[in-house]
Amino acid sequence: MSEPTVITVPGDAPYDVTIGRDLLDRIGPALAPTVKKVLVVHPPTLGAQAESLRERLSEGGTREVLLAEIPDAEQGKRIEVAAFCWQVLGQADFTRTDAVVGFGGGAVTDLAGFVAATWLRGVQVVLVPTTVLAMVDAAVGGKTGVNTAEGKNLVGAFWPPRAVICDLAFLDSLSPNEALAGFAEVVKAGFIWSPEILERIEAEPGSIVDPASASFRRCMELAVEMKARVVGEDFREAGLREILNYGHTLGHAIEHAERYRWRHGAAVSVGMMYAAELSRLAGRLSDDAVDRHRNVLTSLGLPVSYRGGAWPTLLATMQRDKKSRGGMLRFIVLDDIARPTVLQAPDESLLFAAYQEIAD
Ligand code: GLY
Repeated sequence: MSEPTVITVPGDAPYDVTIGRDLLDRIGPALAPTVKKVLVVHPPTLGAQAESLRERLSEGGTREVLLAEIPDAEQGKRIEVAAFCWQVLGQADFTRTDAVVGFGGGAVTDLAGFVAATWLRGVQVVLVPTTVLAMVDAAVGGKTGVNTAEGKNLVGAFWPPRAVICDLAFLDSLSPNEALAGFAEVVKAGFIWSPEILERIEAEPGSIVDPASASFRRCMELAVEMKARVVGEDFREAGLREILNYGHTLGHAIEHAERYRWRHGAAVSVGMMYAAELSRLAGRLSDDAVDRHRNVLTSLGLPVSYRGGAWPTLLATMQRDKKSRGGMLRFIVLDDIARPTVLQAPDESLLFAAYQEIAD
């Protein structure tokens, strides 16, 4: 079996992201030696694996390991769920030198990170993401938080993990659609940073989203490398980190319009196609690069168009988005593949013209 790949996320508190297969034995050693108690936060679907993690982390009974089962997906990213975890930590007398492990998809790692960031004003957290999206995005970069009735991710903290363990074996059991939706973020890394990802998809579009393949793993590594470099340079999203929003401005508006029944990756796929068309109409991106977007996304089976009549609603949602600054819309666009930049306050007629290019 090939050796795991270790990518260090630089910054004030650098940490390693380890990518490979069958890595669960690495979680214990990733915790500080002073840790006497661990809370493993996990969704119901990972109950059996969480039990086996409890066994491994207890180090022959020298550590107390508790499990907190929380609802899956966005249902778990609520302040009531965080309060439940705080209660468990309080009743078990967790101190500053104890730890949280977030074991699950992106919502679980976001929630576990938030619990760790807030308990006693911050205890260490090790993240063990189990979906493509969580491995390449949510678990890397220290964004933690919960949703509120007013919107997603409105409450949270920047709190870097102590380590991230990406065990690709967890992806074997994902449905092809789930894996593909997560892979959209890997494709994003290809457009904004790493042409090698695009070349690999172009070489084998039918088989690239196979978690057991070497090419899939290489794409995951490149996407994590990109995220590590970006968040290492701009932890608090004051500049460069904004490029990670490529395809997300319209993507979030589509998710909202679809009441979150669309997968995030599908919405981001349409959003990236839109951003490419916008880049072209703004006189920045070539026709060939736009065609490349369409070809790469459709070759994977990801959507590239959306309902024509939905534009006024989508525009209104984008204008409300927390990522617009001072009410001004900002889009990440491309000057070329792997050359992202910001388009600030574009004309509404330009935005609409780009939308007509992707409207079905
Ligand atoms: N998911 C975008 C970021 O981490 O900044």
